[in-house]
Amino acid sequence: MKNYFAFFLFTILFTISNAFPVSLLRRDVFVPPITYPTNTTVWNKGEVHNVTWDVSQAPVNITNKFGRIQLRSGGLTTPLILADGFDILLGTYPVTVPWVITGEYQLVLFGDSGNFSPEFTINGSPQ
Ligand SMILES: *[C@@H]1O[C@H](CO)[C@@H](O)[C@H](O)[C@H]1NC(C)=O
Ligand SMILES: *[C@@H]1O[C@H](CO)[C@@H](O)[C@H](O)[C@H]1NC(C)=O
Ligand SMILES: *[C@@H]1O[C@H](CO)[C@@H](O)[C@H](O)[C@H]1NC(C)=O
Repeated sequence: MKNYFAFFLFTILFTISNAFPVSLLRRDVFVPPITYPTNTTVWNKGEVHNVTWDVSQAPVNITNKFGRIQLRSGGLTTPLILADGFDILLGTYPVTVPWVITGEYQLVLFGDSGNFSPEFTINGSPQ
C-alpha cells in the first residue's frame, strides 16, 4: 500500500512537471490567426497575394520565430509550401497562387504550431 502511494505521488509530480516545460524556458508558443485570405477571397493561379496574420498578441519570447505557409485541401494539409523561413512577426508575406484544380482551399500558417485560414476559392483548372 505504501509503495503504491509513493508511485501515485511520483506519477502526479511527473505529470505536473511535464505540463509546464514551456514556462520554465520563459518562451511562449505563438499561433497568430490568419486575417487574409478570408472566407470570401477568390484567388487566380499565378497571382501574388499578401497573406496577412495578426501579430498584436505576440509574446516577448517566441519559441520559433520562423514561419511557413502551406496549402490545405479537403481538411488535410498538403505538402505544398507557398512560403518558408520568413519572420513570423512580419504579419504579412507575399505568396504566388499555385496552379491547382479549381476549388475551396485553406492556408496553414506554421510557427510553433499551425493556424488555419477560413476556406477560400482558388481558380486554377477545371477538375
Ligand atoms: C525573455 O527572454 C529574456 C532573455 O532570455 C529574459 O530575460 C526575459 O525575462 C524574457 N521575458 C519574458 C516575458 O519571458
Ligand atoms: C464568413 O466570415 C464572416 C465573418 O467572420 C461570417 O460572418 C460568415 O458567416 C462567414 N461565412 C461563411 C460562409 O462561413
Ligand atoms: C502586397 O504588399 C506589398 C508591400 O506592402 C504591396 O506593394 C503590394 O501592392 C501588396 N499586394 C497586394 C496584392 O495587395
